[in-house]
Amino acid sequence: MGAWRVADGHLGISSLIAFLLYAFGLMDPINELSQNVTALQSGIAAAERIREIDEMQAEGEADGLAEGVPSGPALSVGPMPESPVLELKNVSVAYGPDAEAAVRDVALVVPRRGHTAIVGQSGAGKTTLFSLILRFLEPAQGELLLDGRPYREHSHHEIRARLAYVEQDTPIVPGTIRDNLLLSRPDATDAELQQVLHEVRLTEKINALDDGLDTPLSGTTVSGGERQRIALARALLRTPDVLLLDEATAQLDGLTEAAVQDCVRVRAARGAVITIAHRLSTVIDADTIVVMEGGSIRTRGTHEELLATDSLYRDLIEALRIAADPAAARNAPERVRHPLTPAGDAIRGIA
Ligand SMILES: Nc1ncnc2c1ncn2[C@@H]1O[C@H](COP(=O)(O)OP(=O)(O)OP(=O)(O)O)[C@@H](O)[C@H]1O
Ligand SMILES: [Mg+2]
Repeated sequence: MGAWRVADGHLGISSLIAFLLYAFGLMDPINELSQNVTALQSGIAAAERIREIDEMQAEGEADGLAEGVPSGPALSVGPMPESPVLELKNVSVAYGPDAEAAVRDVALVVPRRGHTAIVGQSGAGKTTLFSLILRFLEPAQGELLLDGRPYREHSHHEIRARLAYVEQDTPIVPGTIRDNLLLSRPDATDAELQQVLHEVRLTEKINALDDGLDTPLSGTTVSGGERQRIALARALLRTPDVLLLDEATAQLDGLTEAAVQDCVRVRAARGAVITIAHRLSTVIDADTIVVMEGGSIRTRGTHEELLATDSLYRDLIEALRIAADPAAARNAPERVRHPLTPAGDAIRGIA
């Protein structure tokens, strides 16, 4: 356009050049301005999210009991050695006011020592039951007791100090392997760290890394099984009264399975272990097995008792057995292959 106007004699060459130079000069600031507007928009969104979190009611405020409130007289007397450590009395809970109950009328007594395994189809309410025990959720009905005292008389901190939890989808925080382990007990010594790593059979793997315990986890590729063992080591470091283990449904490797089995056995001899079992070896080892269905406890007993009396338990066990034995998987009838989803799918996938 400029060239055409210059050729026509309507515009001087000097004016055209000046115009172009100004136009080019403007380009950078305009570019920068639009980038800043984008940054501003994501900043506004982040600020909104921070505000939402800021407005959430913190635990402790919600129940009117400040964190770290000293224990009442009952605890100072000390729990009876043979009394149950945990007790659930007809507990029900739902996610949200209109939702159907995820756990319904559950009564469970957890002895001070021994291994209780919870089995059930996907969505039966197993993880929800753990959330109740950990007091992530408050029951809509019924109550929970720790050492014979209701949960509401304990602070959140008191309850969680007694429990250690290995989650189903084992989270790992940014930082080194050491940071991840010390999260549960910052004052643990190196010897204690080595001891738990040995228990979960990670010693060799960590010694093979250039920086050992100080290797940043973000830069290292740890397998799913190794992640789970790191999370287990973190829980064991606490020597909890009750170990809650929500077994991962995927990431089954032989070493992890054996490590989990050994740890559970050793801990169950000294304290209470509750597992949500997705592995045959864990189920068979348990002292008591609780079968959950649709949020309630369907039945409970030992492996032999349940095999003889409960059809759902037989189906669940059959699915786990198939997962553990690929030859059986090929010959299994279709009905038995599908009782567990997605847990069963993941196990079968590996098998
Ligand atoms: N955060 C949540 N919000 C709403 N509903 C939920 C939430 N978590 C679980 N539920 C619902 O509660 C029910 C029980 O879920 P839960 O996670 O306890 O099952 P699960 O027995 O642990 O299953 P899986 O074996 O697959 O881990 C399901 O119907 C599920 O949809
Ligand atoms: Mg679950």
